Amino acid sequence: MTEKKTFYITTPIYYPSGNPHIGHCYTTLACDCLARYKRMQGFDVMFLTGTDEHGQKIEKKASAEGVTPQEYVDGIVANFKRLWERIGITYDRFIRTTDDYHVESVQRIFKDLYDRGYIYKGEYAGKYCVPDEAFWTESQLVDGKCPECGREVVDAREEAYFFRLSSFADRIEALLTDEEKAFLEPQSRVNEMVNNFIRPGLEDLCVSRTSFSWGVPVSFDDKHIVYVWIDALSNYITALGYDNERYSDFSQYWPADVHMMAKEIVRFHSIIWPAVLMALDVPLPKKIYGHGWITFNGSKMGKSTGNVIDPFILADRYGVDALRYHLLREMPFGADCAFSNELMITRLNSDLANDLGNLLSRTVAMVLKYFDGTLPVAREYEAIDEDLSAQVLALQATVESNFESFHFSVALAEVFRVISRANKYIDETAPWVLAKDAAKAARLATVLYHLLETIRVASILLSPVMPNTMPEIWRQIGASPEMTKWSSAGNFGILTPDVTVSKGEVLFPRIDMDKEIEYLNGILAPAATESNPTGTPAAAAPGEQPEGKPEEKKPEILIDDFAKLDLRVGKVLSCEAVKKSDKLLCFSLDDGMGGRQILSGIAQYYKPEELVGTNVIFIANLAPRTMRGLVSEGMILSSATPEGYRLIRPEGDPLPGAEVS
Ligand code: MSP
Repeated sequence: MTEKKTFYITTPIYYPSGNPHIGHCYTTLACDCLARYKRMQGFDVMFLTGTDEHGQKIEKKASAEGVTPQEYVDGIVANFKRLWERIGITYDRFIRTTDDYHVESVQRIFKDLYDRGYIYKGEYAGKYCVPDEAFWTESQLVDGKCPECGREVVDAREEAYFFRLSSFADRIEALLTDEEKAFLEPQSRVNEMVNNFIRPGLEDLCVSRTSFSWGVPVSFDDKHIVYVWIDALSNYITALGYDNERYSDFSQYWPADVHMMAKEIVRFHSIIWPAVLMALDVPLPKKIYGHGWITFNGSKMGKSTGNVIDPFILADRYGVDALRYHLLREMPFGADCAFSNELMITRLNSDLANDLGNLLSRTVAMVLKYFDGTLPVAREYEAIDEDLSAQVLALQATVESNFESFHFSVALAEVFRVISRANKYIDETAPWVLAKDAAKAARLATVLYHLLETIRVASILLSPVMPNTMPEIWRQIGASPEMTKWSSAGNFGILTPDVTVSKGEVLFPRIDMDKEIEYLNGILAPAATESNPTGTPAAAAPGEQPEGKPEEKKPEILIDDFAKLDLRVGKVLSCEAVKKSDKLLCFSLDDGMGGRQILSGIAQYYKPEELVGTNVIFIANLAPRTMRGLVSEGMILSSATPEGYRLIRPEGDPLPGAEVS
């Protein structure tokens, strides 16, 4: 028996320093699409994702929240996993850099590099902020002061370990500029790496830190912590069992077929990572692909800029497949892509509801109407049929070559070009005219069969991107699993000649643009304003009340208006996630008045159990309302931060029911 060919694909491991957003979704979806496509082709796929959990930033965030770094990351990692499940990510393995086996491997890798002479002990000289215990380079300083706290810095030296990156400069340049190998894509990134980083001179890299402790200790000198990028990059091999006993498929899957990421971390992957692997005598990954950014209001969408669009909300409103389609269709190869709600809705309406949805519903409706759902087998061909079937037959090769070269949007555009062609074919062949003449039954059946076959092929090719809805299409057009295999997309005429179709629901309902925009503007990623300086999504999520555009200042009120609010302190007696809701937590509060239940849309930002016993502030005289079948008697206050919603807490230890004024 011949062994299956393998395909190993990775996302970056994400920092759990804030909740995942659309930007993280893009890379993970692109990988998921490739993983599904390769599995359909029969490859033995390993799709790896995970989280990069060490470092000073996480340590500081955790301490600001009064929890341990491990507790802090555990909560956010759970949210990443929940999102991946929600949007249908079929990863095979999830690595956390805090996993014991990874930590052990990183220690061994570091020691190995040291023993081989590629890591040496030296002295790090830089600007040091004493209160922050942090080293900065000259260029990181802001007005000559610490970029974190703005205080004076001093010249300081510190013992540190260095990796001999400089000695790999020539080999890395040769690797990146070997056009045949195309190690780094798109090509534009190669020029950037070579001109900006390699030619000006690669310096040895400082690969240990002593200023914080949340990381992997150097095994033979444990006051030093391994530099996070060495820790993080190693994940791609430790996850397969390199230097550890947890897994044993390194020889099966390595070298990786592709490491996917956005452009800002291409430098680490195309310069440092190959150098480390060369030093370890490990083969290099086959490809690094650095896509562009999803931007919002002109800047990279990211957790620290606050302009984060909530993928849970988009998936809930438009469906997972629509979200997946939109992101992969819109992002051009290698370039940035501005996220816009208008663009998304236009795209969903025109491609999914109009072109694909209509083609399917018209075709199925005609087979039902003219032939009671089952085509007769007699055929009568015309030249125009061949024109359509030739385009359908050519589609698979086009999609494959575009998937392989990461041109997802082109692949999808090509499928939709053929779908449009098929819609035009309906107009050209006018089945409703053929249906009037009993002598044209064979011709009519031929036309409808061509349409069904076009739908079958298009839906197979779309299934890595829209895995949830395509099976419903197959059910409607009477295609068996055998007929929807990837390999069968290269043939025309696979459905049985007397195929029977089935009526089904509308797969992609049209979206009312004006209404949706009003709704989305109310809850998603508003532009930064005075009252909301980070541009963080405004308060609809917690109370699930989308009314009111957050970027508009509310009208002035009088003190009497404020006095109408009965704000009180409550103690959380119990807290649980609400079934079938990604957002809602159900609180039972000791309100000093006999207790009450309140729902709050902060499930993405807290684990319910961590809230029990803590104090919150709530509106006690809000009219009760029902959400997901549960009554909510008030509203718990929280506010948007760049990391998501945080509860507003009273200081000290007020009694339950204490008034807030
Ligand atoms: N932990 C490092 C990666 C280590 S890999 C060995 C890291 N983490 S991150 O959380 O900041 O994730 C960065 C990656 O998330 C990007 O490279 C990209 O894959 C994805 N994206 C985050 N924001 C994005 C956009 N706005 N647009 C597109 N991709 C984005 O860097």
